[in-house]
Amino acid sequence: MESVQAIKQRFGIIGNDISLNRAIEKAIRVSPTDISVLVTGESGVGKESIPKIIHQLSHRKHSKYIAVNCGAIPEGTIDSELFGHEKGAFTGATQSRNGYFEVADGGTIFLDEVGELPLTTQVRLLRILENGEFIKVGSSKVQKTDVRIVAATNSNMFDAIKKEKFREDLYYRLSTVEIHLPALRQRKEDIHLLFRKFASDFAIKYKMPTIRLSDDATSMIIKYRWNGNIRQLRNVAEQISVLEQTRLISTETLKNYLPNMGSNLPAVVRRTKSDGDFSTEREILYKVLFDMKRDLNDLKKLTMELMENGNTKDVQKDNEGLIRKIYRGEDDMDKEDDEILAITQQSTPLVSIAEPKDKYHFVEDIEEEETLSLHDKELELIKKSLERHKGKRKLAAAELGISERTLYRKIKQFDL
Ligand SMILES: Nc1ncnc2c1ncn2[C@@H]1O[C@H](COP(=O)(O)OP(=O)(O)OP(=O)(O)O)[C@@H](O)[C@H]1O
Ligand SMILES: [Mg+2]
Repeated sequence: MESVQAIKQRFGIIGNDISLNRAIEKAIRVSPTDISVLVTGESGVGKESIPKIIHQLSHRKHSKYIAVNCGAIPEGTIDSELFGHEKGAFTGATQSRNGYFEVADGGTIFLDEVGELPLTTQVRLLRILENGEFIKVGSSKVQKTDVRIVAATNSNMFDAIKKEKFREDLYYRLSTVEIHLPALRQRKEDIHLLFRKFASDFAIKYKMPTIRLSDDATSMIIKYRWNGNIRQLRNVAEQISVLEQTRLISTETLKNYLPNMGSNLPAVVRRTKSDGDFSTEREILYKVLFDMKRDLNDLKKLTMELMENGNTKDVQKDNEGLIRKIYRGEDDMDKEDDEILAITQQSTPLVSIAEPKDKYHFVEDIEEEETLSLHDKELELIKKSLERHKGKRKLAAAELGISERTLYRKIKQFDL
């Protein structure tokens, strides 16, 4: 059996912390078996090396190793990606396709961010774990596969189970053995070592002398919280290597690269999102999806009315606001969205994305709360502004930061 030290060298893992060594030792021990492993730890702690070690030290090493980021695949296509689909299974399925579980037969699949799997996919995964059986999307034929599963998560799975976003039975199946990687702040001894290693790597990469930290700066990186763990440390080392001219780095310089420096209090993690705050690409996509969903609902309502009443003047009049909203021009749309955002920025957060009531009604719930809250807030602001300016639209529009034309439309829309 290879030693922990040899594995660290082979996989480029830096650090001598005892809990890191224990995690690697556990990976070595479990690798010859087919036991499912769940790797846990904060973002950026190095979870991705563990499944690679397990695969390489197993009898499966000559078969495929496939890493799947479950959080990055849209809910609508994940079943087809993982389990494959038959020709004609859905619009656009012009060919049948083998999923990862079929392709990796005899090998290992790494399911990263497993907590993000939709509930329906979780059911299929449970079946694979129980007896190796799966069914392609759009097929009725049961197929067999022999795949070892290693999963990883940086989120609290018990929380997800409590909120019924993750199946408890699947969690226990996946985590027969759990390997936990410590946060960087819990391996203080490794921080400077890692920094020196990264500084030296970047010096070679960018053909520059290696940066060094002053004694005070060294103490500073050891005390820092490193919420983004090794990934953040690596980025900081790279930025300083490239951007700083002086190679001896003082605390003054270092501070510029460490967010929230000067406070060792835990950084505030915002659980609620406001309309104007998109910290990740996924959130932007959610926003686009919510908007599309809202438009779709509006269109459905309009179509239904047209079917029931025909294209009468009354339908048009009753739905004036809707029609304008759906069919307004692109320019107008951008402008209006900007304006809505400008108004809501002063408002309280709209929805808590972290706590949907029911997985299946997630999109619907948010959409309704969001619409209500937006309109109420807007309405209230417009009313107050008009009162303050004794009905003078020009002044109210200027105060609200919107054009007079938009204000006029809103007055009509809200029947003010
Ligand atoms: N012990 C280590 N030695 C050297 N580099 C490391 C070590 N641990 C992590 N890294 C590097 O840090 C970066 C982040 O690691 P990794 O992608 O495995 O994080 P993660 O735990 O999977 O995070 P996330 O949950 O955000 O996906 C990678 O560039 C990786 O090579
Ligand atoms: Mg990862």
